[in-house]
Amino acid sequence: MEVRPITSSLSSSNSSLSPEAGQEALHIWGRTPLKGHVTISGAKNSALVLMAGSLLCPQDCRLRNVPSLADVNRMEQILAALGVRIQRNGDALDINASDLGHSQAPYDLVSQLRASFFVIGPLLARLGVARVPLPGGCAIGARPVDLHVRGLQAMGADVQIDHGMVHAYVTGPSRRLKGARIYLDYPSVGATETLMMAATLADGETILENAAQEPEVVDLANFCRAMGARIRGAGTNTITIAGVPSLHTTDYSIIPDRIEAGTFLVAGAITHSDISLSPIIPDHLTAVIAKLKEIGSQVIVEAPNRIRLIGGQTLRATDIETLPYPGFPTDMQAQFMSLLTLAEGDSVITETVFENRLRHVAELNRMGADIRVKGTHAIIRGVPMLSGAPVVATDLRASAALVVAGLAAEGKTVIQGLNHLDRGYEHLEVKLQKLGARLQRVPMDASEVVVSPSTALETL
Ligand code: EPZ
Repeated sequence: MEVRPITSSLSSSNSSLSPEAGQEALHIWGRTPLKGHVTISGAKNSALVLMAGSLLCPQDCRLRNVPSLADVNRMEQILAALGVRIQRNGDALDINASDLGHSQAPYDLVSQLRASFFVIGPLLARLGVARVPLPGGCAIGARPVDLHVRGLQAMGADVQIDHGMVHAYVTGPSRRLKGARIYLDYPSVGATETLMMAATLADGETILENAAQEPEVVDLANFCRAMGARIRGAGTNTITIAGVPSLHTTDYSIIPDRIEAGTFLVAGAITHSDISLSPIIPDHLTAVIAKLKEIGSQVIVEAPNRIRLIGGQTLRATDIETLPYPGFPTDMQAQFMSLLTLAEGDSVITETVFENRLRHVAELNRMGADIRVKGTHAIIRGVPMLSGAPVVATDLRASAALVVAGLAAEGKTVIQGLNHLDRGYEHLEVKLQKLGARLQRVPMDASEVVVSPSTALETL
């Protein structure tokens, strides 16, 4: 059955402003302590890849604890455009991919979501053919997919890239991928996930070496195993997948979002608050909790799925280097930078995972921070106070960093670029309001659209 192309090429950024989010701003009145409990949503970075993984199943399957996010909504639309029947019921998605390949995802959908590239592995595994736009770069880096492509080629796929489109098909009479031993030059989360999904239905055994160990990789493996896949070693650097002829239905609940949880922990620390979070898996936050304790917070695991943070009265400087899991997560780097702007002393943050993930520095400096960037290092000299200011978010985690900074700043902070925030945080301002934060989402008229100097320079 021929899969018709998802004919589009991802644009250079995921940050196309959705009309409504582009005309709103978040107004935050800082220096209000937080108090109480916050409920953590399902993990965005699990939901997106598990939704793609549902393409492997020719029957009904149900995903629970799926957060309501802009990126998830876009993935739903992309799957529906591929012929998947998908129905949201509360926090669950009922998905049936029994009848694939009748259509192509409209350009405007695929161009806004890098994660749509995840469909290539399952489409190849199910149908022996896939045509998916080559993802462009985004605000944080070039985001190549060479490790995905080389791994699929090692499994017997013929992959050509032509005019921004990845054309992949499986040669040979069986139209099935073949098991292979694949060494990943870098423990790429996406490449590990793409190849693991492709291998579930391959002919023979696949071994992924130097594989990513992130919890979301483990969640995907557990989801595929629940559908009958034979996968061992997920969560270690070597994953073995024995291909099976087909998968079957399952009802699976997604893990809590460790990055949302980490973001709230930082919000508690920077406002010297006493808050608790659940559900959460503390082991997913080992590096984050260790750094929060170094900086002066008390972090107490109150129950197997509940964490309490009591922020210290002062913040101690520390150094952070982002690394593949179980190292310190790059998705928490921006939020910790906001926290360290108010620490006593100098801190150094080194971003080793993405080449352009320090763009929040300029906006934090506009709020009175003292940060200098030298290559992949940010040198942060602690200041006694941040000042509220109009700022513009540049990417998803940068927007979270600005919210966190606004909660601590003296006066009002107005944050634009909320389309970034809405990609990865479910009802963030509502959850913060319930903790006592003083903030609200406000429609803007054209006169209020503030282009911050850092953004203005970029657009010149
Ligand atoms: C996933 O992105 C996450 N996204 C990212 O979260 C996260 O920051 C990242 O993993 C690292 O943990 C989703 O899961 C949807 P990678 P991914 O492949 O898979 C290079 C967020 O804020 N690389 O591990 O794209 C790449 O350029 C987002 O929620 C290649 O060179 O990350 C980067 O420098 C941001 N070739 C490094 O590896 C490849 O073929 C890590 O990328 C693939 C990756």
